[in-house]
Amino acid sequence: MNKQKRILVTGAGGFIGHHLVKRLKADGYWVRGVDIKRPEYEASAADEFEVLDLRKIESCLLATRGGIDEVYNLAADMGGIGYITANHADISRNNILINAHMLEASRQNGVKRFLFSSSACVYNQAMQKNPDVKPLKEEDAYPADPEPGYGWEKLFAEELCRYYYKDYGFETRIVRFHNVYGPLGTYDGGKEKAPAAISRKVALAANGAEIEIWGDGEQTRSFMYVDDCVEGLTRIMASDYRDALNLGTDELVTINGLVDMVSGIAGKRLVKRHNLTGPQGVRGRNSDNTLLRKVLGWEPSIRLEQGLAVTYKWIASQVKKPVQQSELVSAR
Ligand SMILES: NC(=O)c1ccc[n+]([C@@H]2O[C@H](COP(=O)([O-])OP(=O)(O)OC[C@H]3O[C@@H](n4cnc5c(N)ncnc54)[C@H](O)[C@@H]3O)[C@@H](O)[C@H]2O)c1
Repeated sequence: MNKQKRILVTGAGGFIGHHLVKRLKADGYWVRGVDIKRPEYEASAADEFEVLDLRKIESCLLATRGGIDEVYNLAADMGGIGYITANHADISRNNILINAHMLEASRQNGVKRFLFSSSACVYNQAMQKNPDVKPLKEEDAYPADPEPGYGWEKLFAEELCRYYYKDYGFETRIVRFHNVYGPLGTYDGGKEKAPAAISRKVALAANGAEIEIWGDGEQTRSFMYVDDCVEGLTRIMASDYRDALNLGTDELVTINGLVDMVSGIAGKRLVKRHNLTGPQGVRGRNSDNTLLRKVLGWEPSIRLEQGLAVTYKWIASQVKKPVQQSELVSAR
């Protein structure tokens, strides 16, 4: 019988990492989860969960000890567009340290495969100036002009993965996520992304009330439900493809459209108030899945409305807590 595969998930206290640990456990693997914090909304399914600061090489060596076969490196200092726009220095420094140290510790400890979670923020900004943007192909990351801070450090860490394969033969996989959403993700506090923030605002608003939208709402994105994300991660890890791959949907929607969809799910009619000074990121962004389909014979398929219904229900149940009352007032 094959030895049970031993897997490390970093960022296991976070949104995608927590879902991935559950999936890997359901698939029968031995899993160690590591994060600087524990999961917020439910206990981890990992066999071992260790709280470590992965900016430090000693912590990365501890995390990768004991014959780990595969590492999913999801730990990162990150958040929605407001957070990543306001914290270029901290995000870049923290994530460069995490990624460089996790790669080196994994190599030293004989890890067989290492997956790095990159982002659609690596793409050249000049190609994302229109809402009806052409879907981004993997090659559109160069010539480089990524999102300041977060996009640059992700792009550099992708390069670092390539150097580790070239110089050491260390097997790396690179995944560029496009906007992942779902239950058990951050929905308040400043690090939340658009689907969670909008779901929270809609849940807190009374029928007929006003809700604030950053920008004119005509900016576009595509969004991937977390179950598709986790499925794609395990498939990419198992594949032989070493270069960067998009992992997202190509169901493009405006932020106004997203608000309408969530309001419809909630059964509320709301008035959108556009805050034109709010950060909104690139004007349009979509994922071209041609290469993903070719490499995996698969692509994310859960429709936005279907995933949002589950996500909204979870966020609406969370915001019933008393601490949210002040927002209820301001949302009116
Ligand atoms: N969610 C998305 O839409 C999206 C899009 C593009 C890329 N990504 C990438 O996917 C990965 C997972 O994202 P997520 O949405 O689950 O974010 P998340 O913030 O929920 O999870 C990241 C986790 O990393 C942990 N972390 C931060 N600094 C750490 C440190 N010094 N040591 C140990 N752990 C640390 C955080 O505590 C957090 O739990 C990240 O690398 C992120 O950049 C996510």
